[in-house]
Amino acid sequence: MSSRLEAEQLYKVFGRRPGEAVERLRRGADREDLRADGTTAAVIDASFTVEPGRIFVVMGLSGSGKSTLLRMLNGLLEPTAGHVRFDGQDLTALSDRELREVRSRKISMVFQHFALFPHRSVLENAAYGLEVQGVPRREREQRATEALELAGLAGWEKSWPDELSGGMQQRVGLARALATDADLLLMDESFSALDPLIRRDMQDQLIELQKKLRKTIVFITHDLNEAMRLGDSIAVMRDGRIVQIGTAEDILVRPANDYVASFTQDVDRSRVLTAAAVMDARTRGDEAECGCETASPGTAFGELCAISARVEHPVAVVDADGGLVGVVPRQRLVGFLGDEQGEPGPCDTPRGKTVGAVKAGA
Ligand SMILES: Nc1ncnc2c1ncn2[C@@H]1O[C@H](COP(=O)(O)OP(=O)(O)O)[C@@H](O)[C@H]1O
Ligand SMILES: [Mg+2]
Repeated sequence: MSSRLEAEQLYKVFGRRPGEAVERLRRGADREDLRADGTTAAVIDASFTVEPGRIFVVMGLSGSGKSTLLRMLNGLLEPTAGHVRFDGQDLTALSDRELREVRSRKISMVFQHFALFPHRSVLENAAYGLEVQGVPRREREQRATEALELAGLAGWEKSWPDELSGGMQQRVGLARALATDADLLLMDESFSALDPLIRRDMQDQLIELQKKLRKTIVFITHDLNEAMRLGDSIAVMRDGRIVQIGTAEDILVRPANDYVASFTQDVDRSRVLTAAAVMDARTRGDEAECGCETASPGTAFGELCAISARVEHPVAVVDADGGLVGVVPRQRLVGFLGDEQGEPGPCDTPRGKTVGAVKAGA
């Protein structure tokens, strides 16, 4: 069971006269305007809702305000203005004691550099959050054992941290967060220090876990590919402000501005896009213009390219009843592959990038 998380017009200003700074920001000032006074507007007017059981990714360059935002969500930082609501409770209105209670029972954090206690076993490390909560030894060892199993570390309970690889240590961090049964998982660049292959592994593991556990997750990253793999929805931050919130498809296909668009240039579109996102929508009765090759609205872009490569005609996109809902002409696919525009034969061109991207997604 998870709960809804809401951020309402959150501001965090570091420096002198923060209240005054918020007023200026509300009137349209930006970070640069305030910097002259030695004031940092770390987070400016952030509002969003994370539905129960969803992964909300906050993506942005270093310094854009991601960690500050996250620390307001669990009450480690008090907002200069605005509210955080979780599970129906306004965290910003709680006393320090109430807040600590909420933080230890309902919220777990996983950091980038996960500090394990070197003289405690893997099991004891995973059970640490429960120990802080005062859960009796037996119960916490049982729950930590289950959490380690979920994190893919069954059999390692008695090992010492220095016997584990970096990826495995990060899994212990994940297990510690899972063991407490917290509804809300806050993950700050949790996978960013890992090698690419291990990192992908951890992303897959998180996606698998989430199918079972349905936590409410806020995941921070500066990597757009990671954001797109994990996020049910994604907030893009720039200079303290959220400049767009949307699905991976929204951000790729309908970027809010040039900044977001420039960010998406290196994304492997073939992994993210589906036929529904790239097709020209049609109403029933237009079947004549299509060949006999069909795809469904959920067909992945890479597969769509493979289908398109086999036929001259546009590919027909049909719904579950076989009714036509859209068509995808070959030329359509080119534009979505990024920087290869204008090349004929998008899916069978011998030029490296397009073919590579299609293969990667197929
Ligand atoms: N405690 C602090 N005091 C003053 N400035 C801070 C503090 N924490 C963060 N900042 C500033 O706020 C901005 C956002 O930082 P941060 O939230 O850490 O960004 P990110 O996590 O996206 O890299 C940066 O300019 C940073 O220097
Ligand atoms: Mg950070």
